[in-house]
Amino acid sequence: MQENLILDIQKINKSFPGVRALKDATFSVQRGSVHGICGENGAGKSTLMKILSGVYLKDEYTGVIQFDGKELRLKENAIHEAKELGIDIVYQELALVPKMTVGENIFLGKEPTHAGRIDWSSLYSRTQEILQRYSLDINPQAVIETLSVGKQQLVEIAKACAGKTKLLILDEPTSALSEKEIKILMNTVKTLKSNGITCIYITHKLEEVFEITDTVTILRDGAVVTTKPTSEYTNETLISYMVGREMTERFPKRDPKLGDVVLRVEKFTVQDPHNPKKHSSHDATFDVRKGEIFGIAGLMGSGRTELIRALYGEYGTKLSGNVFINGKIKPIKSAQDAMKSGMFLVPEDRKTEGLILQQSILKNITIPSLDIFSSFFRIDKYKELKTAQTYAKKMAVKAPSLYVKASTLSGGNQQKVVLAKALLSDPQVLILDDPTRGIDVGAKYEIYKQMVELTNEGMSIIMISSSLEEILGMSDRIMVISEGKVITVLDSGEANQEIIMHHAVGAS
Ligand SMILES: Nc1ncnc2c1ncn2[C@@H]1O[C@H](COP(=O)(O)OP(=O)(O)OP(=O)(O)O)[C@@H](O)[C@H]1O
Ligand SMILES: [Mg+2]
Repeated sequence: MQENLILDIQKINKSFPGVRALKDATFSVQRGSVHGICGENGAGKSTLMKILSGVYLKDEYTGVIQFDGKELRLKENAIHEAKELGIDIVYQELALVPKMTVGENIFLGKEPTHAGRIDWSSLYSRTQEILQRYSLDINPQAVIETLSVGKQQLVEIAKACAGKTKLLILDEPTSALSEKEIKILMNTVKTLKSNGITCIYITHKLEEVFEITDTVTILRDGAVVTTKPTSEYTNETLISYMVGREMTERFPKRDPKLGDVVLRVEKFTVQDPHNPKKHSSHDATFDVRKGEIFGIAGLMGSGRTELIRALYGEYGTKLSGNVFINGKIKPIKSAQDAMKSGMFLVPEDRKTEGLILQQSILKNITIPSLDIFSSFFRIDKYKELKTAQTYAKKMAVKAPSLYVKASTLSGGNQQKVVLAKALLSDPQVLILDDPTRGIDVGAKYEIYKQMVELTNEGMSIIMISSSLEEILGMSDRIMVISEGKVITVLDSGEANQEIIMHHAVGAS
């Protein structure tokens, strides 16, 4: 292995029942570089990273991996062994202890001691030093659960780099971060690189790929399509390598025909359950028409999610205001009430709210709609399967069968299952909270196409999104929220990124 390489991966094969997750995957990573890995949902990215970080052992895959001049042969206690060798991974799901402080987390299991006791002042001053090294403005004594998800993610990276990390793997690190936090993370990766640490960076966000990586490997269906310097790709070629075909447009064409008002929200004020003095939504008034895609934009923490969850009867205490569906007032006190009134919410956090991970794909899709297949308390199993198949196909869910557990699906395919479930319940108003988070470009386009088709059939869609591009590309009207207040509702024709941001930061 050449001296300038830190990692050399040769012919890795890994299968799960019914799936070949990696097929002869072969590429190498330059020492001190930021190496991007791109590919569609289910391409095998996370599986490969799990092999490198010791989640899967040497006898669970075939192929040869050289790391830092030696063959990597991880056996029992492999995760620990990988760390000792200098390989660290930060998963999308956080792994910090919520009730402990930042410092306690960073030094967990390797606390500095003095005369047989934990030396707290050294622990916190060293934490401070590490945080400063990466210009992270975080209090070492803050308890983890009081920090935003973004800050927690940064602590996780600081923790990984506090040790003797040589290779840091970041698997979709920014999918839950705000714009500002993403900037900080990008800078942190640059600092790591200048300190000689190699990074493998997995993301579905192409801007990040072009900003931060030196080289990109593209995986498709478990095989490496190509590895090239980032400068040799364009947006278009990167996408076509990933999806295996040309994609000329990012958003499908649409010719909206708007009908009457379906949902009207009037002077809706909700008390923040964590702070009785605060309103998480204040005096919100808006309406959504039949066949409309109604976008909701706002910064992370602006109250977008709280507003719709409150409408859905799942959050806060309503202080005043009303919700009308088709002109009739609806007292919605729970998600069941909301569904009966014709709404369906696809939540932001699919892992904890959208899916039952230990259940099959089939059950995940059909459970909320079981009455469709039931008569006299019996479920028509055949009809249930056929229907689930139709909807799974509609959303292009990629899985060996509908009987496998949802937990075995790649991130993006889990999201498609949640959407399939929503469609089956056939709501009048479908509410999507950041529906394409963690979803690859090709699958995003499929979801957008579905949205267009559904609205053509008369469904109304409310879509919250952190991506202004997506909001602008898909919405008929855009409501901008800042600090729990509706600032404005714009027609898509009069909106652009600057105007939305201007309202979102509360500058108007
Ligand atoms: N524990 C498992 N059991 C069964 N199949 C699995 C398991 N883990 C992954 N797979 C399958 O292996 C394939 C690769 O999954 P992987 O999670 O590596 O994809 P990915 O490229 O990370 O996708 P995403 O962008 O959606 O995160 C998928 O088809 C997935 O369903
Ligand atoms: Mg993944």
